Amino acid sequence: MPARNTRTSISLILISAALVIGALYFLFLVSLISRQFLVDAAYKDPSLPIEERIDDLVSRMTLREKIGQMALVEKNSLPLDDVARYGIGGVLSGAGGKPKENTPEGWRVMIGGYVAASRASRTGIPILYGLDANHGHGNVPDTTIFPHQVGLGAANDTVLAENVARITAKEVRATGAHWIYSPSLDLPTDIRWGRVYEAFSDDPVRAAELGAAVVRGLKSANTVATAKHFVGAGSMTWGSSINQNFSIDQGATYADEYLLRTQYLPPFKRAIEAGVESIMVGLNMWGEHQMSSNRYLITDILKKELGFQGFVVSDWYGAYEISESKYASAVQAINAGIDMVMLPYEYKRFINDVERAIRRGDITKERIDSAVRRILRVKFSSGLFDDAFAMPDLSVIGSPEHRALAREAAARSIVILKNSNVLPILNARKIRVAGSGAHNIGMQTGAWTVEWQGIDGNWLSGATSILAGIQNISKAEVQYALDGRFTEEDIADIGIAIVGEKPYAEGWGDAPLPRLSAADLAAIARLDEAVEKLVIVIISGRPLIITDELSTWDALVAAWLPGSEGVGVADVLFGKKTTSATLPLPWPRTIGQIPFSLEGSSDGTPPLFPRNFRLILDRSH
Ligand code: BGC
Repeated sequence: MPARNTRTSISLILISAALVIGALYFLFLVSLISRQFLVDAAYKDPSLPIEERIDDLVSRMTLREKIGQMALVEKNSLPLDDVARYGIGGVLSGAGGKPKENTPEGWRVMIGGYVAASRASRTGIPILYGLDANHGHGNVPDTTIFPHQVGLGAANDTVLAENVARITAKEVRATGAHWIYSPSLDLPTDIRWGRVYEAFSDDPVRAAELGAAVVRGLKSANTVATAKHFVGAGSMTWGSSINQNFSIDQGATYADEYLLRTQYLPPFKRAIEAGVESIMVGLNMWGEHQMSSNRYLITDILKKELGFQGFVVSDWYGAYEISESKYASAVQAINAGIDMVMLPYEYKRFINDVERAIRRGDITKERIDSAVRRILRVKFSSGLFDDAFAMPDLSVIGSPEHRALAREAAARSIVILKNSNVLPILNARKIRVAGSGAHNIGMQTGAWTVEWQGIDGNWLSGATSILAGIQNISKAEVQYALDGRFTEEDIADIGIAIVGEKPYAEGWGDAPLPRLSAADLAAIARLDEAVEKLVIVIISGRPLIITDELSTWDALVAAWLPGSEGVGVADVLFGKKTTSATLPLPWPRTIGQIPFSLEGSSDGTPPLFPRNFRLILDRSH
């Protein structure tokens, strides 16, 4: 009996094994056939019209593949194997999301890995790899760092802005990424906001023209641009932030239809005319509700009224900030019109939730198809599918030509606010330099440079501090003391105090009273004792309150966040280059004047310097 039993069990095992093997073989054949089936698929034919390729591809995609395309995942949360498994549509490096080896080669290898993984998926739909290159490819050391947008706003030159964007895109492409979260079209009305410097100006016309120029520049070097943050970002009310660490960032914009139409929308309209392919919805609220839940603004206005054909992407975790329930939040965001969701973490949950929402009828299949079509349209039209994106050689990164443009941009973004016959400095014998920003590349490049919050200090190779620029250019003897303590007791002809803000990003830069630090004020006071004439250069992301100090200074220069080429600032101080930059936003006299509207200050008093103010340097003094 036992022998018979054993024989029966063996037979059963053999039969089961055969069945399992058979089933696996069957699955293998099915997957092979389905892959095979896609080999000659029409969507792979670059000669066909894009809409035909989209039709063909969408008709072949499974529901889960479609939902996967709508997921934008932060690279540290995404193992390579999951890219194809979940058919992920986009991968991003949030600021600081760098490869282990943070070199241009390291980036190229890392992004190449994600692209290859997506190409190996059943459909072979390439991912879009996105990042914030908002003042050059700031994520990577040794790249060319341009002035932050507020500086380009001051320069107010569309040709310059377009060229800066083109070179930025070239350096980004050299590292393999395709998609840049720029330009910012925010209109900052309150200098207490930590993101003033990411915007061009509070003037919608200036922002619109420069934004369109950046879109053109980014597109010309084969990157996908992103206009952000839709809409009304910059006009939030102080104290309204939903983030407990912040005061105004991620706060509420008053829901005003008149301002919407006359100010907030026009820059986006221009960006759409310039061909922008993606638009990022802000983390601000419109009235009492999260922007990412606003169907009227995203679908009715942006997509239908303005005719935007690209895709709408939500900002970092924004689709989950609508309500307590993650499921309900995602459903609301997608139904409002968000096409790609910057999750940026839990993609498995997102895919399951959206699949469930479709089953339950909370989201329609048509809505999913519409989102996917928009994403695919951008992937096709930008040449991603056909590997048409030429990757420039790595040698373009930080090249002398690129740095020359950054030097030019730094010089052209400088606004001269006061000058009692000191500038340009032509015949000085001895110059003393002081202040926290004189020899601090981290300060002059600001945040979004290698780290989200930037890095204070001199760590960026290939860059030039303003002090080094002065030493290179000036024929005078140049002495430097950060704190303004000079050992010699004589009086030098000129003192240059380079002072300002340490780097900060987003709500971490919200500040109730932006002004110079006590250390900088002390350095200025000491320097003043040791020089005939005092020039103040402010390195900052926004106007600072300097009303009490201004009268004791002979010259004042706003250099914003000039970037890696500090010598551009020295060029202007020493008359090597001229600047015709104007103030891109009013410089307040008091905090009580804030916020400014286009009509003026809140309390009706004049600012210290009005929007568009500038002095032209005269070489004849
Ligand atoms: C910012 C966006 C940025 C995104 C990705 C968010 O915190 O608000 O401007 O593009 O992060 O880094």
